[in-house]
Amino acid sequence: MTQRSRIVGVGRYVPERVLTNDDLSAFVDTSDEWIVERTGIRERRVASETETTSTLAAQAARRALASAGVDASEVDLIVTGTCTPDGMFPAVSTLVQHAIGAGDAATFDVNAACTGFLSALSTASQFIATGESRRALVIGAETMTRIMDWTDRSTCVLFGDGAGAVLLEAVPEGETGGLDGLVLHSDGSQAGLLYATGPCAPGAGPGAQILAQEAHLVMNGASVFKHAVTSMAEASLEVLHRAGLTPADLDLVVPHQANRRIITAMADRLGLAGDRAYMNLERYGNTSSATIPIALAEAVAEGRLNAGDRILLCAFGGGLTWGAMTLQWAPIAHPALALGEPAAVGSDVTAD
Ligand code: UT7
Repeated sequence: MTQRSRIVGVGRYVPERVLTNDDLSAFVDTSDEWIVERTGIRERRVASETETTSTLAAQAARRALASAGVDASEVDLIVTGTCTPDGMFPAVSTLVQHAIGAGDAATFDVNAACTGFLSALSTASQFIATGESRRALVIGAETMTRIMDWTDRSTCVLFGDGAGAVLLEAVPEGETGGLDGLVLHSDGSQAGLLYATGPCAPGAGPGAQILAQEAHLVMNGASVFKHAVTSMAEASLEVLHRAGLTPADLDLVVPHQANRRIITAMADRLGLAGDRAYMNLERYGNTSSATIPIALAEAVAEGRLNAGDRILLCAFGGGLTWGAMTLQWAPIAHPALALGEPAAVGSDVTAD
C-alpha cells in the first residue's frame, strides 16, 4: 500500500543584503529600466561572507518546522535541491541535519538545476509512499551570486540567493488531499543552453591547480526563454490531465520565478486569468531551486494559499530539465512563522 504525502510546514529565509538594479548598474552596463522591463526583477538578495547554501537552507528548514509545530528530532529524511552546494561534498542536506539537530536522518542532495525543488519533493514523496520515511524536510537552497560571471550582463542581473523548505508527511488514513500528480522530464541534448562550469571540468586532475576552473554560469537566454514557456505549459497540462483536472480547477499556480514575461506567457497558454500565477521575482530574482519553496512560504504567510486549495507547481532549468506537480494544500499550523518571527533572546530564527 502506498501513502500519499502532504506539506504540513513551509518556511523561507533570504539573506539580509539587498542588491537593487541601481546598485548593479554601478558596475554592470545595465539599467533599472531594462531589467524591470525585460524581466520584472527589481532587486535580489546576496549571501554575506559567512553565509553558505547550507546556512540559508538550515534557516528555512527551522521555519518550516516552526510553522508545522514539529521538532527537528522528528525528521527522518532531508533532501535538498541545489546546484550551488557549499562544496562538492558533504551534501547540503547533511550539513542541515547537524545544524538543526535532526537526529540521524537520511540526507542527500539532488541537482536538477532550477527544477531541483520539484525533483527533491518527488523523491521525498516516494520515501513516504513506501513507508521508508515518516517526516521529510524538502529544501531548495542556492547561492547563485557565487557562480555569476559579473562581466556578463545578460545573466548576472537575473539571479539571487535564498532558501525555502517544506515539511512533508503522510496523509493520515481517511483524509484526502496532498500531492496527487507529478511529471518530470529532461533533454540533455540541450545542455549547452544553460550550464555552470565547475572544478571537475576537463583540465582538472593530477598536477593541475585545484579549482583551476572557477564555477560560473553560462546561458543562451533567448533559447532558454522559448523552451521555458513551452515546457512549463506542456508539463502543466500533462500533469493536470493525469489528475483529471483542468486549469480552471486551480486556485493558484506557483511557477519557477525566472522572468515575469515567461510566467505571463505560460499563464496565457494555460488560459489562467489575472493573478492566479504567483510572482515574487521582483524582490528576489531567480533563486533557482529555491524559487518555488520561497514563493510557497510567502503565499501562505500572505493568506493566498489556504487549506483545500488546488495548486500547481511547475519549473524548468538547466539540463534542460522541467516538470510540474499538482497538489491539494493541507493546513499549516502556524502560517505566520513561515517567514520567521521577531528575534527572541537565545533564538537564531529571526524575521527579515
Ligand atoms: O531558470 C532558468 C534560467 N534562465 C532564464 O529563465 C532566462 C531566460 N531568458 C530570459 O529571461 C531573457 O532571454 C533575458 C532576460 C536573458 C534576455 O532578455 P531578451 O529580451 O531575450 O533580450 P536579448 O537577449 O534579446 O537582448 C536584447 C538586447 C541586446 O542588445 P542588442 O544586441 O539588441 O543591442 C542585449 O545585449 O538587450 C541587451 N542586454 C542588456 N541590456 C541592458 C542584455 N542584457 C542586458 C542588460 N542590460 N542586463
